[in-house]
Amino acid sequence: MKATAVAPASIAFIKYWGKKNEVLRLPQNGSISMNLDSVLTTTSVEFKDEYAQDEIILNGKRIASGERVIKQLNLVRKLAGADIKAKVVTDNNFPTAAGIASSASGFAALTMAAAAALNLDLPEKELSILARQGSGSACRSIPSGFVEWIAGAASDSSYAVSLYPPDYWDICDVIAIVNDEEKEISSSVGQKLASTSPFFSARLANIGNKIKTVKGYLADRNFKSFGELIEAEALELMAIMMTSAPALIYWRPETVKLIKKIMEWRRLGLDVYFTEDAGPNLHIIIEGRNLESLSGELRGIKEVKRVIVNKPGRGAALTNRHLF
Ligand code: PMV
Repeated sequence: MKATAVAPASIAFIKYWGKKNEVLRLPQNGSISMNLDSVLTTTSVEFKDEYAQDEIILNGKRIASGERVIKQLNLVRKLAGADIKAKVVTDNNFPTAAGIASSASGFAALTMAAAAALNLDLPEKELSILARQGSGSACRSIPSGFVEWIAGAASDSSYAVSLYPPDYWDICDVIAIVNDEEKEISSSVGQKLASTSPFFSARLANIGNKIKTVKGYLADRNFKSFGELIEAEALELMAIMMTSAPALIYWRPETVKLIKKIMEWRRLGLDVYFTEDAGPNLHIIIEGRNLESLSGELRGIKEVKRVIVNKPGRGAALTNRHLF
C-alpha cells in the first residue's frame, strides 16, 4: 500500500491571509493563484501493519515532531476506516520555508499520496478539501494551472478549482532568491495576527471586488492591468503584516533593493511586476517573450543568489517513481 504524488508550489496573485476557522483552515477570503512548474514536492506514503508508529523523513532527515503531518494522515485514515501506521518520505526540490509555499506543495502531495495508498478514489474537490485542512493554500495545489480557492462558509464548500489550464497564458514567475534561510515566523503563526492590523477590515471589505477584477484581467489576458493589480495586492499584504501586533517584517534590505530595481526596469520599458509570499524573496511576473531581458537584468544584481524560472504548472498528480 504505497503511493507517490508530485505537487507544485504556487504563487498567489490574490492572497490568503487570515482564517475564520483555525481548525478547519477556512480562509477569511477567497484567493487566486498559479501553480508553478519547477518548484515541486514529491511524497511517497506507505501504510504497513509492521510499522509501530508514523515515521516522517523530509529532505533526508527524520522529523521528530511531525504532528501536523500525523494529523493529516489521521484525517485520511479516518476517511478510509484504516488504523495502520505509515512511512512518509518527502523531498522538496527548492529551499523549504523561504517564501516559496512549501507547505502548499507538501500537504497537497501528502494528501494525494496518502489517499491513493489507502485506495481512496477521491474526486479533485474532495482532495482539495482534505489538503486544505493540512495547510490552507495546499487546496490550490491540487487543481491545474490558474486556480481559484472559493472561500466557502463551511468545510465542504471551501475548496479550489482550476480557472484555466497551464498553457492558457504564457507568463512566467521568476523567483529571485535573495535569502534562503528558514523564516523566523511561519505563515501559520503570522496568519493568526492578521486581524490585529487596523487595516484588515478595509482589506476584507474590498477583496470581493479585487477577485472579480483580477479574474476579468485573466479572462482578457490583460498583462499590464493584471500586473499592476497583483503588485498592489502584494504590497497590501505586506502592509497588513507590518501593522500586525506584533509586527511581521519579512523584507530584507536586498528585497527592497530588488523592488526598486523592478520599478526602474518598468520605467525603462520592461513590462515586469512583482509579488511575494511570507518571506524575503520576490516572485517576478513577466510574459514569456520578455524572459530573456529580465534574466539579463537579474544577472547584474549581486544580491540575487539564485533564480528559479517557472511557467504555469499542472496540479498534483500520482507517479510510480517512489522515493523508497
Ligand atoms: O497556507 P499557508 O499557511 O502557508 O499561507 C500562505 C500564505 C501566503 O503564501 C502568504 C499567501 C497565499 O495565498 O499563498
